[in-house]
Order: sequence, then C-alpha cells, then structure tokens
Amino acid sequence: MDRLKGKVAIITGGAKGLGEADARLFAAEGARVILTDVDETGGARVAAEIGPSAQFIRQDVRDEAGWRDLIATVMDRYGRLDVLVNNAGVVEPGTIETTSAEDYRFVMAVSADGTFFGCKHAIPAMRASGGGSIINMASIASIQGESLVAAYCAAKGAVEALTRSVAVHCAQGRMNIRCNSVHPSGMDTPMVRRFGGKVAAAGLAPPPGASPHGASPLGDATDIAWAVVYLASDESRFVNGQRIVVDNSMSVTSGHVPSAG
Ligand SMILES: NC(=O)c1ccc[n+]([C@@H]2O[C@H](COP(=O)([O-])OP(=O)(O)OC[C@H]3O[C@@H](n4cnc5c(N)ncnc54)[C@H](O)[C@@H]3O)[C@@H](O)[C@H]2O)c1
Repeated sequence: MDRLKGKVAIITGGAKGLGEADARLFAAEGARVILTDVDETGGARVAAEIGPSAQFIRQDVRDEAGWRDLIATVMDRYGRLDVLVNNAGVVEPGTIETTSAEDYRFVMAVSADGTFFGCKHAIPAMRASGGGSIINMASIASIQGESLVAAYCAAKGAVEALTRSVAVHCAQGRMNIRCNSVHPSGMDTPMVRRFGGKVAAAGLAPPPGASPHGASPLGDATDIAWAVVYLASDESRFVNGQRIVVDNSMSVTSGHVPSAG
C-alpha cells in the first residue's frame, strides 16, 4: 500500500493505457500523481476517478517550453519531484520503405524528443529534491527487429540509449537520480487495439513467420505498472541504467524458423 508513500510523480500519457494504469497504481501505493496528456477529457476523467492524490495537467511532450512550465508548476505546488515516467508514445505502421518522413518525425518527436525533454528538465528538480527516479517507456521494439514499425523501432532505440546516458550522467554527478527503461511486449491498451486497423489501412500484412511467438497473448496494463512501481520505489535504489523487459519471454524466444509454406 505504501511503496511510494510521500513521493511526487509525473506520468506522461496518463489519460489511458499504460499511463493510466501507472497513475492508478502509483496513487494506490501512496504517491501524489500529476498525470499529463494531450487528451484532456481522458486525463481529467482518470484524475477525478483517482481522487485528491491525482491532478491532471494538459501537456504535449513534444513542446520543450511546456516541459519547463510543467516542472515549475509541480515544484511550486508540491515542493518536490521524485519520479518521472516518460510514458507518452505513438506508433504508426510502416516498413523502412513505406514510412513517410512525416510519420517518422511524428513518432520520433513524441517518444524520443519527449523523453529527452522530460529527462533534461526533471533532473534539476529532482536534484533539488535530494534525488529521484526516471522511468522511460521503451518497448521490445528496441530489442528485436519489427519490420512493420520502422519509425517506432528507431524511436524506442533512442529512448533506450538515452536512458543509459542519463543514468551515467546522474551517477557520475552523485545526484542520487536513477534512470531505467521498461520494455513491454504487446499489452491490451487503446494503442494496440487500434493498431490492427491501422496496419490494414496502410495495406501492410505481417510477413509469413513474422512472429517468433505465434499467438502470444496480450498482457494487461497492470503487468507493466507493477514494474514501473518497483523502479519508482526505493526498493530499486541500486538499479540504474538498466532495461527491464516485461514480455512473457517474447524477446528471448529462439528456434523459430519461417515455415516453408
Ligand atoms: N501497449 C503496448 O503493447 C506497448 C508495448 C510497448 C511499449 N509501449 C509504450 O508504452 C507507452 C504507452 O502506450 P499505450 O499502449 O498505453 O498507448 P495509448 O495510445 O493507449 O496511450 C498513450 C497516451 O499517450 C498520449 N499521448 C500521445 N501523444 C502525446 C503527446 N504528444 N503528449 C502527451 N501525451 C501524448 C495519448 O493521448 C494517450 O493517452 C508508449 O510509449 C508505447 O510506445 C506500449
């Protein structure tokens, strides 16, 4: 119940999906939660349902000036910042040959730029708070080749690599700030529920034998939220610069060969 007691946490993309599950679990574990999103209706609904320990603030994570305002508002109202979950992300279907420059830049802007700005502006506030934990939402798309989401793979690879750089920067500066990435496989969220339709609309179909896992079941958003709670809590105080894969073995499955048919 009290694994995050006394902590102040920002969760981006908190209006639905994994961010919503994080926000609900963080509050249940005693944190005060600021959830942000471009979806004002969804974000306000989630904050109201959680109750007084949650607040919604509209934010587009692509906007660096908005990050400065958000961190200043949180420090003003709460006096500290202990946790940042860089969770907001988008996916657009497309292989390396079919992805438009516009889609590539959009996906990179939300996941990679948004995470970059978040880390950059959270660190001074966490330093002033005596330390903190940054959790960056990556994906198994940064670990394995996923041909249908080329831009998404690039964005999540950037998130993973940035995570290590931030972790080492903070460790070398003795800041007591940790930074880790979380890598889910397919989870049952609005993003994933929409994705099949988007793939079909783009005229793409998975190549034969594309999935090493066959019919892998989708995980639940809470399966990821428990990992995020662990990284946000002091239980993980010696875990820094790591990627935590939560994928029910999908990324380590081997021995698959495309079928002859
Ligand atoms: N669901 C999965 O299977 C899965 C797997 C691996 C990684 N992830 C990652 O987890 C994170 C959450 O995914 P999800 O499945 O919950 O997605 P989702 O689409 O269900 O929810 C994402 C939320 O982010 C918000 N958002 C989008 N662009 C934004 C922006 N510019 N600024 C602020 N908020 C913005 C959306 O409005 C939405 O509320 C993403 O980074 C995603 O890439 C998800």
